[in-house]
Amino acid sequence: MTVIRSAITGVGSFLPEQIVTNADLAKIVDTSDEWIQERTGIKQRHKARDDQPTSDLAVEAARKALLDAGRTADEVDMIIVATTTPDMTFPSVASIVQRKLGSGVGVAFDVQAVCSGFVYALGVADGFVARGMAKCALVIGAEEMTRLMDWTDRSTCVLFGDGAGAVVLEPREGQGATTDQGLLGFALRCDGTKTDLLYVDGGPASTGTVGHLRMAGNQVFRHAVVNIAEGVTAACAAAGVAVDDVDWFVPHQANQRIIKGVGDRLGLDENKVVSTVALHANTSAASIPLAFDAAIKDGRIKRGDLVLLEAMGGGLTWGACALRL
Ligand code: ACO
Repeated sequence: MTVIRSAITGVGSFLPEQIVTNADLAKIVDTSDEWIQERTGIKQRHKARDDQPTSDLAVEAARKALLDAGRTADEVDMIIVATTTPDMTFPSVASIVQRKLGSGVGVAFDVQAVCSGFVYALGVADGFVARGMAKCALVIGAEEMTRLMDWTDRSTCVLFGDGAGAVVLEPREGQGATTDQGLLGFALRCDGTKTDLLYVDGGPASTGTVGHLRMAGNQVFRHAVVNIAEGVTAACAAAGVAVDDVDWFVPHQANQRIIKGVGDRLGLDENKVVSTVALHANTSAASIPLAFDAAIKDGRIKRGDLVLLEAMGGGLTWGACALRL
């Protein structure tokens, strides 16, 4: 049976230049490099300049992904940006990215599912590509989580960072087999009864302010391990592959202990798990494409590999995607 698959034909990422170390944070809140590394695995994070909005990071990542795919901006007919830290309430970051890429045609919109945003956005884009509604789609995860920090709250401000990652999706004919190139299966979830565990205490229709990120860290941690493991299993089932068949796991980079907890629960070989949390911290929707790009560029993930992306975030949202590169 012939099917249209969304194949990843290019990948790129971008991190703002400024690096903030744990030692830097220990100067502004009562914390230490030792505590942060032991509880989270994080050593440093990148921080955007005041005059460097989320769309700037997104555009840099998009340009690299397009170059990697051998495509130009005028060939792009869809842009989806997964973000929870838009430049403005509207227009969408995707619209601004389209303008900055010098294009004025095609579909462009944002997806807001916090840390699960990139996996959600891939799912949305896959629907467009599979129905012939997009021939060259840019899916971008771009975040400036440092804008949402309460810099007096040591339990959250040490966890997050800024960055962007992007992929180009193009239709490829497949056989409906697990050997097909492209996105093979998804599991996307939300449990809205747990909105109070992780949220921002502001917004245009509540306080009229941007607000700060608030989190019940312990509870989020517990849900993350259970939910992500469930999502991974379900996405593999949807793709028709076994968890053991997966060559590389690219998890959302929130906390090394969550990554390890999920790995232990699923019995994963830790050498198959990509981790960049030490260098990037939690960049929300950007974390998966940043880690994915890093592992492709350093030669670990290769064409033909079976890759599993998984995430969980505010909502609570979570999800996973099995793909063959
Ligand atoms: N430095 C030093 N001490 C700290 C810090 C800090 N930065 N932050 C908290 N502490 C203290 C607390 O005040 C507490 O002190 P107390 O015992 O005197 O009250 C102590 O450390 C232990 O606090 P816990 O919250 O129990 O620490 P825990 O081991 O749970 O680690 C953490 C906290 C890292 C936030 C953990 O709960 C976690 O990782 N949760 C998941 C959070 C996460 O990753 N969320 C993102 C996923 S979803 C998304 O990506 C949006």
